[in-house]
Amino acid sequence: MKTPNPKLILICFLFLFNLNQTQVMSLATIETCLDTVCHMNEPLIRFPFHIEEKQTNTCGYPGFKVLCNESEKNQTLLNLPYMENLSIQKINYAKQELFVNDPNNCLPKQLLSLNLSTSPFDAVYYQQFTFFNCSYNLEYLTSRYKPIACLSDYSKYNVFATPSLTVFVHLSSVCDLVDTVNVPVQSPFFDQVLSSELNDDLRLSWNSPPCGRCESHGGRCGFKNNSTFEIACYNVPSRQGISRGASYAIAICAGVPALLCFVSLLSWICSKFRIGTHGWIWARETVADFESLLDHEYTNTSGLDKPTIESYPKIVIGDDIHLPKPNGKTCPICLSEYMPKETVKTMPECEHCFHAQCIDEWLPLNASCPICRTSPPRLQSQARGGSD
Ligand SMILES: *[C@@H]1O[C@H](CO)[C@@H](O)[C@H](O)[C@H]1NC(C)=O
Ligand SMILES: *[C@@H]1O[C@H](CO)[C@@H](O)[C@H](O)[C@H]1NC(C)=O
Ligand SMILES: *[C@@H]1O[C@H](CO)[C@@H](O)[C@H](O)[C@H]1NC(C)=O
Ligand SMILES: *[C@@H]1O[C@H](CO)[C@@H](O)[C@H](O)[C@H]1NC(C)=O
Ligand SMILES: *[C@@H]1O[C@H](CO)[C@@H](O)[C@H](O)[C@H]1NC(C)=O
Ligand SMILES: *[C@@H]1O[C@H](CO)[C@@H](O)[C@H](O)[C@H]1NC(C)=O
Ligand SMILES: *[C@@H]1O[C@H](CO)[C@@H](O)[C@H](O)[C@H]1NC(C)=O
Repeated sequence: MKTPNPKLILICFLFLFNLNQTQVMSLATIETCLDTVCHMNEPLIRFPFHIEEKQTNTCGYPGFKVLCNESEKNQTLLNLPYMENLSIQKINYAKQELFVNDPNNCLPKQLLSLNLSTSPFDAVYYQQFTFFNCSYNLEYLTSRYKPIACLSDYSKYNVFATPSLTVFVHLSSVCDLVDTVNVPVQSPFFDQVLSSELNDDLRLSWNSPPCGRCESHGGRCGFKNNSTFEIACYNVPSRQGISRGASYAIAICAGVPALLCFVSLLSWICSKFRIGTHGWIWARETVADFESLLDHEYTNTSGLDKPTIESYPKIVIGDDIHLPKPNGKTCPICLSEYMPKETVKTMPECEHCFHAQCIDEWLPLNASCPICRTSPPRLQSQARGGSD
């Protein structure tokens, strides 16, 4: 391969240097609202959020007011209507998400009065928790479930929050039901939990203003002008910042060696195939071998046949929703809770249960249990399929 002309390399470097300068220039023309913080190590605050004492009103979108509590470690607080102020733990501007908690370390208390309907925020995932206030059988209950410490008085009463229908049924016979609350949890894979202290940060997101795309391209969002809520994206580093000359330079710097490599690769391939028909036959045999190998793999690892799937035992759930041991209250495939009268199907190899319609869609594609990956032994499954 020919080495590139040293003069060309020099030109490339000159252009790249020029490019850096253009970027610096575009940063100098940044809009008037700068990022700010309540305190060191606290989340960066910028549009659509704004801190009233530190920025002008035009730096924030309505409903995104942030306060700093100087008496309390300079916490960053989110001011929500009809609610206590929540402390902001983290903001992801590109995903339009934020994580909040209670500044006084008793999040369940805030959850009992959580009302996001008048705020710009909503949950990414909700999970329903029912709160119970129990004053009998205290020791027995606390040995099974975790009480919410900041709402409980251990010697007199304990407050529990549960997402589980079984625990709900159990506690509702011995305790006072306080409330049922939709909790903005961080992820929906939360089943098997009997009771929770609910002190993990809440995950919230916002739809408007839609600044995520701008932020993920490295830009900064802001108002177009003072009289409307129209937003614009400023200072996106690429494209705008790169001059046309710099783009050509990059194209030449990266493109020429790539083109040379491609041409030499092409000529190498051509020279190989010009060796003669022998090369082609060798290639075709390999492809055929490979395909038969694939076929073999396919019959081994693809889904189950219909008779086998239909032979798996079905149960219609009764009113008490009681599934045998390794199973939770939710279907692991669709993640929704089992309801009375629904049909569940069990994998006989491991006794894991699923909604019949969920597992019926899974098994033709995958021959193993979605939870423990147990596959039916092939002979056994054929025998069972044949006997039906
Ligand atoms: C700041 O923290 C103190 C102490 O926890 C509290 O009394 C006060 O209400 C807080 N201020 C705001 C604005 O939340
Ligand atoms: C909060 O921040 C202010 C100004 O940045 C500082 O003077 C004060 O000492 C801080 N308070 C705490 C509790 O860190
Ligand atoms: C939240 O903070 C604001 C500003 O300091 C304060 O006026 C308001 O009372 C606080 N809200 C609650 C519910 O404490
Ligand atoms: C939330 O607050 C709004 C406005 O005050 C009210 O209309 C709505 O009913 C509340 N929602 C709940 C679940 O409390
Ligand atoms: C639980 O009940 C006790 C009295 O038995 C009461 O003092 C307490 O406020 C109740 N807690 C909640 C969260 O309802
Ligand atoms: C703000 O935008 C509106 C609509 O685009 C326009 O009519 C108005 O003149 C603008 N105001 C200023 C101060 O630029
Ligand atoms: C927008 O408002 C800010 C402060 O309120 C002011 O400095 C600026 O000149 C205004 N811009 C326009 C285009 O009216």
